[in-house]
Amino acid sequence: MSRSSTDRSSWTRRAGFILAAVGSAVGLGNVWRFPFQAGQEGGAVFVLLYLWFVLLIGVPAMLVEFTVGRLTGRSPVGALAEFGGGAWRYLGGLFILIGFLILSYYSVVAGWVLRYVVGSVTGGYAGRSESYFLDIATGFDALVFHAIFMALTVAIVALGVRRGIELAVTVMVPAVAFVVLALVVYAWTLPDAGAAYEYYLSPDFSLLASDWRSIVPAAAGQAFFSLSVGMGVMITFASYLDEERNLLVDTGIIVAIDTAVAFLTGLFVFPILFTAGVGPADPGPGAIFVALAGAFADIPAGSVVGVVFFGMFAIAALSSAISIMEVVVSFAIDEFGAVRRRTAAVTGVAMFLLGTPVALLSSQRQPILVTLYDALAAQILLVSGGIVLMILVAWIGADRAMAELRRGMHSPGVLPQVWIWLVRIPVIVVLLVTLALAVGDYWSFLSGDFADFLGL
Ligand code: PHE
Repeated sequence: MSRSSTDRSSWTRRAGFILAAVGSAVGLGNVWRFPFQAGQEGGAVFVLLYLWFVLLIGVPAMLVEFTVGRLTGRSPVGALAEFGGGAWRYLGGLFILIGFLILSYYSVVAGWVLRYVVGSVTGGYAGRSESYFLDIATGFDALVFHAIFMALTVAIVALGVRRGIELAVTVMVPAVAFVVLALVVYAWTLPDAGAAYEYYLSPDFSLLASDWRSIVPAAAGQAFFSLSVGMGVMITFASYLDEERNLLVDTGIIVAIDTAVAFLTGLFVFPILFTAGVGPADPGPGAIFVALAGAFADIPAGSVVGVVFFGMFAIAALSSAISIMEVVVSFAIDEFGAVRRRTAAVTGVAMFLLGTPVALLSSQRQPILVTLYDALAAQILLVSGGIVLMILVAWIGADRAMAELRRGMHSPGVLPQVWIWLVRIPVIVVLLVTLALAVGDYWSFLSGDFADFLGL
């Protein structure tokens, strides 16, 4: 993003910030990850906890990133060094690591989406939505489409075509919203919609009593992942800002759009799965694919709808992927004076290789390494990144952060104080507990399903 003063206050630039942040937030996290997590973690209780985490922890976390980014005007690692001094820069290194890990498997899943664009054209999944997913989720196809998606991401980051991204987001968000709403209406007419709504919307608190050890960290991880917080993406975007924007209002808009897309996705995925007689947890990471392939095979002009939906979905994934790669690339440029194109290419190849096992290995045809990477990234690493940032802002730089938040707010009142006090103890404590639970939950995965897979 150029910092020339001529275009600074133009509409494109101002809207550009929100569009870029929405483009990053809305992606696989909403349409793929959310329904599959909700299906695995008991439905409505998970949804309720997720909404709670978004509001009480996601919003303050996003504000933390926005204030640090705008105040320092630097990419995440440098921003931490400047805001906190010396050793904090090494903690910024955590963001780079998270970026590598997330994009490596994100690209595999986005590859599935691309594969489904093709499948919609050829009609490949008609009548066999469950087995089709298993066929393409791992193996040669998965690898090829992983490569294609990564190459697209590298190309866009290398060229730095932000205007193109803004345009894509302007078109994509309303288009996704339209298709999603249409699917919600369609799903409402299905015979088993009632049972599905019950599962999705009416919390069964006895589940929470028995399974809180996995539901709580899953809900927190989903909130962080979906909002793109915990690895400096929002620091990067805000670092390009120099105007006096009301960051609280912007956060509200971004969070509302992101959460609405996820919530509406659940409203159609579960009726479709229930009506097809598929248990909500059974398809695992394949939930959205199995549900949609079943529905598109069933409705008039389904293949056209399929191409449109999966196409939009791929664009949404691309705008998120770009934001992740941008953290790594802007770090290399800022800190080492690296060349953008070469850095993007090298980063892309490294991430592709890291994702290769995810695309190739399976356990009973399920892509088991997705869980290995994804639970680590979302529930453990993003939450840790969030905690680190919150400690820095609320305990070390509170005054500067509050002053930065006030900039652009007409009548801030006590809001900045409330924000800092909320973060200082309650939010950090909740996140530390969540993190401990996440580590425990991950350990049971490693010593359970994953050990079985390794044949241990
Ligand atoms: N929020 C993105 C999505 O929902 C994923 C993401 C996570 C992007 C972390 C950036 C950082 O798809």
